[in-house]
Amino acid sequence: MDRFSPIGVFDSGLGGLTVVRAIQKLLPQESLIFVADQAHVPYGDRPLEQVSGYAQAISNALFNAGCKAVVMACNISSAVAHTTVTNTFAPKPVIGMIQPGSHHAMECSRYKRIGIMATLGTVKSDAYPQFLKDLCPSVQVQQVACPAFVPLVEAGQTDGEAALDAAREYLKPLLLADVDTIVLGCTHYPFLLPILQSLTPNIEYVDPAIVATEQLKQELEAIDLLSVNTEHPHHYFATTGSVLELERSLKKMISTDTLTLEVAQANWNEGVLTL
Ligand code: DGL
Repeated sequence: MDRFSPIGVFDSGLGGLTVVRAIQKLLPQESLIFVADQAHVPYGDRPLEQVSGYAQAISNALFNAGCKAVVMACNISSAVAHTTVTNTFAPKPVIGMIQPGSHHAMECSRYKRIGIMATLGTVKSDAYPQFLKDLCPSVQVQQVACPAFVPLVEAGQTDGEAALDAAREYLKPLLLADVDTIVLGCTHYPFLLPILQSLTPNIEYVDPAIVATEQLKQELEAIDLLSVNTEHPHHYFATTGSVLELERSLKKMISTDTLTLEVAQANWNEGVLTL
């Protein structure tokens, strides 16, 4: 493993691509291995222990494949498995979404009334309220589970009536709580940001991927592992679902012009992921 080794990134599905976009923007010279566990999407409705098992197995596969760092581009995985995976692979950097997202929300929120939009599992884990309260005990946090969002994003329906109706419904409790800032606590949700902003132009939205990527950069810099690649980076995308469908989505959802790109099948076998 050296500075040219790839960074591992994973999610249950296409949401992780919002994190890939953030990495491409801040660290365009880095190569990536991205895993979309689309055989199991959505994670948000599954028992937290099961999600933790998937997250640990995928992280294991990524480090075994020679990754120099892993980004859990999945809030629910970060909520339930970040500490375990960090301890297992220390001192290699493992970046989650909850802590960077919370720090950024605290900076953005004027009145310390923060809304969290997330999957059912992330809401149940209570990870965001707990971490936000550690940062500022008087913060008011209102969470809302948004189960319709992930299937809409996976189906590419991010700007239709169904997305608009779901967004209106999910925003209601947050507006009632008079939040000034909303954390997009699932990596799928930034694809719905235009719709959310059109309904609530005065609310500040936080995408944890931005600060998570800055943290990734700092941690790689600290151990002298930032890439100095001057050629096109190589991105390897693996899915446990349909390779054809992932290829189609990639072309629509991220910029692929300056990449060498490979899309492949990943397989689960008795709890072990093979890339
Ligand atoms: N995108 C993931 C997250 O950030 C998981 C969504 C899901 O599969 O339910 O939580």
